[in-house]
Amino acid sequence: MKTLSVDLGERSYPIFIGRGLLGNPELVTPYVRGKQVCIVTNETVAPLYLEKVKTAFAGFKTDSVILPDGESFKTLETLNLIFDGLLKNKHNRTTTLVALGGGVIGDMTGFAAACYQRGVDFIQIPTTLLSQVDSSVGGKTGVNHALGKNMIGAFHQPNCVVIDTDTLTTLPAAELSAGLAEVIKYGLIYDKPFIGWLEQNVAAIRNNDPETLAYAIEKSCSTKAEIVGQDEKETGVRALLNLGHTFGHAIETSQGYGNWLHGEAVAAGTMMAADLSARLGWITAEEVARTEAMFVAAGLPIAPPASMTAEEFKSLMAVDKKVLDGNLRLVLLSALGAAVVTSDFPMTALDQTLQHFLK
Ligand code: NAD
Ligand code: GLY
Repeated sequence: MKTLSVDLGERSYPIFIGRGLLGNPELVTPYVRGKQVCIVTNETVAPLYLEKVKTAFAGFKTDSVILPDGESFKTLETLNLIFDGLLKNKHNRTTTLVALGGGVIGDMTGFAAACYQRGVDFIQIPTTLLSQVDSSVGGKTGVNHALGKNMIGAFHQPNCVVIDTDTLTTLPAAELSAGLAEVIKYGLIYDKPFIGWLEQNVAAIRNNDPETLAYAIEKSCSTKAEIVGQDEKETGVRALLNLGHTFGHAIETSQGYGNWLHGEAVAAGTMMAADLSARLGWITAEEVARTEAMFVAAGLPIAPPASMTAEEFKSLMAVDKKVLDGNLRLVLLSALGAAVVTSDFPMTALDQTLQHFLK
């Protein structure tokens, strides 16, 4: 097992990464302050892993809430089901919520923990590649609104993150690919040598090779932990983690939540950001082609849905959380392996990118 750390002063926490960790009480017991635990999961993950996770919390009074599965249920209405379960079972302020599932469960459980009785503890047990490399680390929690993705939420850090890579053996191939979009992101924004490693190893990851997967997860979590440690509340460098997300969130909102997987939308959105970066002269056409080849090898889309229009993109991108005082800011590649968040680009260049992808 590898242990990484997210260093945030008194809110620092460990990330445990390894195989066969789910039922291990020694990992989680030190991170539960009270006597009560509520495991939140969904109807797909519960039959696979809930009983095993319950054994890790056998020393506590443990309840569970099983939510419907899907991005379309990442709403305030579904959040109420968590509060119903907590109140019916008389959970008090020292309870600990446990998020068992992908990013949807992690984001909702974390947000429920941020709100319940003005804030209780929570533990992340992510079971998709995307949640293991990204969403379980860093404390961004929340739900979607019909008019914008992840628009209602809070920063609330978990007490620990337990990543059992064995859970990926049951994950559908398309979900593994979706997680790869966020793995590729770390290379593109921060780590050029990791791009070279990914070019050699994407096929092994897609074949579920445990050692290759473990390395990709460790590398991704250590980059994320480093960035979150520098900028917990996203006033600076953390925004770079949103490469491709402004375009991607527009795709997810326009297509209806769940119809494009988050990772698929991020892949197409990253290609749009790469295209715009090349139009500004910051990366070369060859580097755009290299980026595209990585997403293709990962089994991901490289363009938005043909049904979308430039006007729709612009209107949806205007509700992005990076918009400041009406100014659209985008994360763009200043080089392959480095990124900036900027509003300093001509609108004509953005129009050309939109026309290129939407013609
Ligand atoms: P998801 O949570 O919808 O999970 C994908 C599917 O896999 C679901 O059907 C789920 O039930 C199923 N599943 C989960 N684990 C499984 C397993 N081990 N075996 C079989 N099936 C399994 O999707 P996701 O890609 O994990 O997360 C996407 C969400 O994460 C989006 O809502 C996105 O906005 C959010 N996100 C948040 C952050 C953050 O920093 N908080 C970062 C990135 C993404
Ligand atoms: N996924 C972006 C972030 O955590 O900041």
